[in-house]
Amino acid sequence: MAFFKKKSVSAPPLPPPKHIAIIMDGNGRWATRKGLPRTAGHAAGSEVFRRIATYCRDIGISYLTVYAFSTENWKRSEEEVTAIMGLLKKYLFEALEKMEKDQIKLRFLGDLTRLSPELLALIDRTNAVSEKYEGFQANICLNYGGRDEIVHAARAFARACVKGEANPDELTEMQFGSYLYSAGIPDPDLIIRPSGEVRVSNFLLWQSAYAEYYFTDVLWPDFTPAELDKAIAAYHGRNRRFGGVK
Ligand code: IPE
Ligand code: IPE
Ligand code: MG
Repeated sequence: MAFFKKKSVSAPPLPPPKHIAIIMDGNGRWATRKGLPRTAGHAAGSEVFRRIATYCRDIGISYLTVYAFSTENWKRSEEEVTAIMGLLKKYLFEALEKMEKDQIKLRFLGDLTRLSPELLALIDRTNAVSEKYEGFQANICLNYGGRDEIVHAARAFARACVKGEANPDELTEMQFGSYLYSAGIPDPDLIIRPSGEVRVSNFLLWQSAYAEYYFTDVLWPDFTPAELDKAIAAYHGRNRRFGGVK
């Protein structure tokens, strides 16, 4: 019953992703496969973060959000947690030294209250110095959990209601978003998970509502700018409909 010749309606190509998020996974397996301690994988992974952040900046991505340590990662051995926190300190010291040259704005998302005073002081300094940069922003999720973030936001909203500063009947999705750790940051367009795991692991539960996912078996320490290009190319092939018809 083809009365009408079907017009070929191919979706227009997507603009480049403005915001890319990455679950930096696979450090431990990378190290184990090489006969190294897991902490060597974290060290290699932090170098890859540096490289990928610079690459994102250079190709015109506006926001990069990385999952560095989850609210569940405290379950790991004290040795591993201490090593990860040590690497973060090292990264921040070095980032502070190169900040003027790199022009990367850093922001930290998560419940930072559980971090050591030394790390917190470094984060404060980093925030203060990098606040003025506007071109590219890297968000580092530290002691971050998507559920924790939503509960934290609900508490803050409830407090505002108790004070008479907010009204539960008028709460909108946009207003709720302003209570999240990610307030002011647009939702991610593309979420990448290396290492072969195909799960969300409590990452950006609210913000990922309409994100495109890209999974790859490559372990994070082996992730390269060419892998990021592949993920972006896959993204360009997607048809984002946001519930509509295209
Ligand atoms: C990701 O790598 C880094 C953190 C979670 C801190 P993993 O340490 O989870 O590496 P695998 O998954 O064990 O290989
Ligand atoms: C997610 O990876 C957290 C980070 C990459 C920081 P995990 O390795 O902790 O996740 P699961 O345990 O495999 O789900
Ligand atoms: Mg893992």
